[in-house]
Amino acid sequence: MIKFGEAAVSEHRRTFLKTTLAMTAAAAVQAVAPRGAFAQAPASPAAKYTPAPMAFDPKKIKGLSEKILVSHYENNYLGAVRRLNAIAEQLGNLDFDKAPVFTINGLKREELIAMNSMILHEVYFATLGDANAPGKALADQIAKDFGSFERWKSEFVGMAKAEGGGSGWVILTYSPHDKRLVNAWAADHTTTVAGGEPILAIDMYEHAYQMDFGAKAAEYVTAFMNTLNWSHAEAAFGKRKV
Ligand SMILES: [Fe+2]
Repeated sequence: MIKFGEAAVSEHRRTFLKTTLAMTAAAAVQAVAPRGAFAQAPASPAAKYTPAPMAFDPKKIKGLSEKILVSHYENNYLGAVRRLNAIAEQLGNLDFDKAPVFTINGLKREELIAMNSMILHEVYFATLGDANAPGKALADQIAKDFGSFERWKSEFVGMAKAEGGGSGWVILTYSPHDKRLVNAWAADHTTTVAGGEPILAIDMYEHAYQMDFGAKAAEYVTAFMNTLNWSHAEAAFGKRKV
């Protein structure tokens, strides 16, 4: 149908715009299209992390309130797992061939922080319960590597108190590399003995004690040592000890 006047001009403009946009889109696709069959890696399936249920009764841990234990578990532990899953989702969809280095570095750094936070909190919560003593195998290893249980405890407690007011962990770690236990200092979630098995850990972030003890980190360390149940530590040690 032939159109005249303004209607014909509008139609012409629409056609021109459509054509121009289509050409621009095609050019854009061409510009980012992979050069060759393997130029762009496919997205990988995102890792899924499932939080461990609260295995202790927060009403029955002597020296630590239900309020702080529930807050710690829900906000810090579950928060770390939620964050880890969100990061994994983004990493799964990330095109590592084209992503800026600051995006790759940032996501991988945050992944490591969230992953170690998840793992170390699980070790921490697994030790809360009725205080007991380590079994023979672990007690013997402690005596061998530290001279005595008392010496190990003095070192572990001293290191924890020294971290008061800062952020980090003290981790009794079994190192398969050297076949020995070591009290490892960790300034944050990301520094620990490579290849080591964390068998016991005290959380020295303020969220672990501030609600109950204010700035008195030393009192929190004493309370933690009085709730120390070694059952999980023994199992973790037995699993890695060769
Ligand atoms: Fe924590």
